[in-house]
Amino acid sequence: MHTVTLNNGVEMPVIGFGVYQIPPGDTERAVTEALAAGYRSLDTAAAYGNEEAVGRAVAGSGIPREDLFVTTKLWVSDAGEDRARRAFDTSLRKLGTDYVDLYLIHQPYGDVHGSWRAMEALHREGLARAVGVSNFHSDRLVDLIDHNEVTPAVNQIETHPFFQRTAEQDLMRGRGVQIESWGPFAEGRNNLFTDPLLTGIAAAHGRSVAQVVLRWLVQRGVVVIPKSVRAERMAENLAVFDFALTGEQMAAVASLDTGASAFFDHRDPEMVSRLGNATLDD
Ligand SMILES: NC(=O)c1ccc[n+]([C@@H]2O[C@H](COP(=O)([O-])OP(=O)(O)OC[C@H]3O[C@@H](n4cnc5c(N)ncnc54)[C@H](OP(=O)(O)O)[C@@H]3O)[C@@H](O)[C@H]2O)c1
Repeated sequence: MHTVTLNNGVEMPVIGFGVYQIPPGDTERAVTEALAAGYRSLDTAAAYGNEEAVGRAVAGSGIPREDLFVTTKLWVSDAGEDRARRAFDTSLRKLGTDYVDLYLIHQPYGDVHGSWRAMEALHREGLARAVGVSNFHSDRLVDLIDHNEVTPAVNQIETHPFFQRTAEQDLMRGRGVQIESWGPFAEGRNNLFTDPLLTGIAAAHGRSVAQVVLRWLVQRGVVVIPKSVRAERMAENLAVFDFALTGEQMAAVASLDTGASAFFDHRDPEMVSRLGNATLDD
């Protein structure tokens, strides 16, 4: 198992399995197959509506809890010290576990500092082995770090060949925050899987584009959580530790950066309002 060491000494697998957009009715099957394929890190969120199914798959796997790394996230409608605490208890109950390995603030909106005080307490009490954030641009991240005790262990942000986040990664490295990619394949946008440059590198290694992209991220020191509902792709996405991209190939992929999101900008006022006011039932 390849891992990175977080700023509090906790070991986090470099590759995990993401379950966003897997319908609750299919999640238990998908996570069961992912665990059988060898994944030991799972990334869910209260907002994904499938924590209970993840919990059932974990329970049914027979894998000792301490061998797993479970991440879930706090939704914006539960921001604030008291609400965050209650939301965490709900997530624990749904996941059927006594603790999580990583608890993230899902979006940088609402009473983030109140939420963070709850996260710090959960961490102190051992209920969240590590705490972190998601979708924080560098300004919000630095503000959170500078005005609180605990530095987030992780910032999970959109990171893929078309939005590479190298400056943000440098800043995080300097502050002791591990970058974690969501959407490593940009969910296939910009024709990622048929991109000529990526296809060429894949052919040179006898690998798939998906493997090249994951290898490129891992080689940059980025933690990844690819999602697939298909067992053969789950296995394919794990198999990136027996080859390496050359310096030239790393530089070639770097040329694909557009510097912009393939989805939306978390600083766009319309999105701040739309996402910031979305409830878990939306
Ligand atoms: N914090 C946040 O705000 C946030 C936002 C988005 C995502 N996330 C997390 O990040 C995880 C990954 O991101 P994502 O699910 O948005 O997108 P992604 O992993 O970039 O892309 C998933 C898509 O790629 C396809 N795919 C997977 N492996 C493939 C392969 N080897 N070859 C060809 N196609 C492949 C999948 O199809 P099939 O399923 O049909 O194989 C699916 O359509 C999520 O599941 C979630 O845990 C977090």
